[in-house]
Amino acid sequence: MKEWVEEDGRVLTCAEVAPGHGCIEVLAPGLAARALPGQFAMARSGTRFLARPLSFFDIDPGRGVVAFLVRAAGEGTRALLCLRPGDGLGLAGPFGNGFPLVSGGTLLLVAGGVGVAPFPPVVRRATAAGTGVRVVLGARTAALLLATAQLRDAGAEVVTCTEDGSGGVRGTVSDALPGVLRDLLAGAPGGCAFACGPPAMLVAVARLCEEAGVPLYVSLEARMGCGFGVCRGCAVPAAAGGYLHVCQDGPVFPARAADLGGVARLWEHAGDGDGGGCA
Ligand SMILES: Cc1cc2nc3c(=O)[nH]c(=O)nc-3n(C[C@H](O)[C@H](O)[C@H](O)COP(=O)(O)OP(=O)(O)OC[C@H]3O[C@@H](n4cnc5c(N)ncnc54)[C@H](O)[C@@H]3O)c2cc1C
Ligand code: FES
Repeated sequence: MKEWVEEDGRVLTCAEVAPGHGCIEVLAPGLAARALPGQFAMARSGTRFLARPLSFFDIDPGRGVVAFLVRAAGEGTRALLCLRPGDGLGLAGPFGNGFPLVSGGTLLLVAGGVGVAPFPPVVRRATAAGTGVRVVLGARTAALLLATAQLRDAGAEVVTCTEDGSGGVRGTVSDALPGVLRDLLAGAPGGCAFACGPPAMLVAVARLCEEAGVPLYVSLEARMGCGFGVCRGCAVPAAAGGYLHVCQDGPVFPARAADLGGVARLWEHAGDGDGGGCA
């Protein structure tokens, strides 16, 4: 029996939360009842685009609502951010393996940019299980530090880093991480870390966690055609040789399972959208 659903979601709110970024709240009771932190949905607006993968930014089974934090990366995500309350949004999911449940101790979350999207549900579940959560959140400027309020409201301690020094520690998450890891290990040996963000950031975080002896799970990105293992379009290099399929084997992997350097090289020449909002 398939565990995922296809659902005609109804948009409740769609609002800009930072330049080139928005949050879309959708009434989708089937997904809200099934989704776990770190899983994703395929979202399709209109007929012009293939569905796009989006992480669950909020999961509220009581209200039957899920939310997505979206960066305007290109035409598909820009179209999603132009949705209005009352519009329909085709959704399928939940897909993939989410983050493991960590009970007790301290959990470190490392996020770059919109990579923070899957983390508020992770924080809520971890704090409910008695786990302390510390988040290191990086962005280019203070205006692009996303979801700090949601993370703090969910019970996390948040350290912010900006490349231009306009908010928190000046520099990247790799600049703040060694100190945070030292504190984490001094306070609670045996901690665990999850990271989501640009591949180059994941490479640096994996090296620092490896040196500190902290087990790390990463959430990887890939271009996705189907989201559930049919098109084979989401292959990324595995550490042991061969390929992993991000939609089915992930998107969350133990960092050692993937060839993160190979994943970063895949994205290096892919270019990037220029963001932007609705006309
Ligand atoms: C499991 C998973 C969860 C995701 N969760 C979120 C989320 O919560 N919020 C969010 O904003 N985005 C998320 N993404 C990324 C998002 O799916 C892509 O940015 C989106 O598919 C781009 O579509 P587009 O039509 O807007 O851009 P396109 O026109 O297809 O591409 C625009 C630019 O973005 C780059 N791009 C396209 N797809 C990706 C990708 N998967 N990763 C990195 N760069 C890409 C392209 O190289 C291109 O330069 C997730 C991706 C995956 C695989
Ligand atoms: S997206 Fe089609 S197999 Fe993974």
